[in-house]
Amino acid sequence: MSRILITGAAGNLGKVLRASLAGKYDTLRLSDVGDMDPAGPGEEVVKCDLANARAVQALVDGCDAIIHLGGMSVENTFDVILDANIRGTYNIYEAARKQGVRRILFASSNHAIGFHTRETQLDARSEMRPDSMYGVSKGFGELLARYYFDKYGIETASVRIGSCFEKPRDRRMMATWLSFRDFAALVECVIDADRVGYSVVYGASDNAEKWWDNRLAGHIGWVPQDSSQQFSDDPAIAGAVNAPTDPAVMFQGGGFAAAGHFED
Ligand SMILES: NC(=O)c1ccc[n+]([C@@H]2O[C@H](COP(=O)([O-])OP(=O)(O)OC[C@H]3O[C@@H](n4cnc5c(N)ncnc54)[C@H](O)[C@@H]3O)[C@@H](O)[C@H]2O)c1
Repeated sequence: MSRILITGAAGNLGKVLRASLAGKYDTLRLSDVGDMDPAGPGEEVVKCDLANARAVQALVDGCDAIIHLGGMSVENTFDVILDANIRGTYNIYEAARKQGVRRILFASSNHAIGFHTRETQLDARSEMRPDSMYGVSKGFGELLARYYFDKYGIETASVRIGSCFEKPRDRRMMATWLSFRDFAALVECVIDADRVGYSVVYGASDNAEKWWDNRLAGHIGWVPQDSSQQFSDDPAIAGAVNAPTDPAVMFQGGGFAAAGHFED
């Protein structure tokens, strides 16, 4: 794998990867609709709207693998989600098929399964239960990836990212937190693995409270090293009220499960 495309490179996780993957592959092609820092050594910077199919074809040309992070990363109106996440992800897979890209990491989300209760243990076979239009769009991306593997052999790891921030921001994130270091290691495992096939991976660190079981993705070889436990005394965690009948507390998706619909 010598040229790796990262979409959403101007975003939070794109910036994390830009730093952590620097120098590990011949070329990082960094792309976003937003502004990015100029290209450094071993980098190419390409501004591109994922909703523009022709531009995405050119973007993917010459790449060996794609880390697809770009899109609307929280709930929004259907029209916004449609262009950024649904059209955008379709354009990436079509470009991959036409340009012969063999492997993709799709940044899915815990919000594709957010309406499972927190007492439910999930693995890669669990039913999708999206908690938002955003979560529906991630479910679409996962199904698209499944289809492109079965029909065209393009491998995908659909990573249902939990909460990938510097530290957990609330009690829920004690279970869903994914450290930047564990995220970057997971991305490298997906790029470097002998075989990915079609895999669903839950993106959480080795936290004490666990809702997700990654044994079905063991062939990718990712073993998270960090734990949210180091933040248990943080006032945002220790002092939080955790009302057990509040939908934001009952369901894995938290506030996304409790929120109303975003009108167009
Ligand atoms: N950070 C998390 O905890 C988390 C959790 C679950 C899923 N995810 C997913 O991981 C990915 C990265 O998350 P993030 O936290 O870095 O989000 P982010 O919002 O910081 O970054 C997303 C990037 O995508 C770009 N983008 C949006 N629409 C685009 C378009 N039409 N064309 C090109 N680029 C476009 C944005 O400009 C932005 O820079 C997203 O797909 C998100 O849904 C993240």
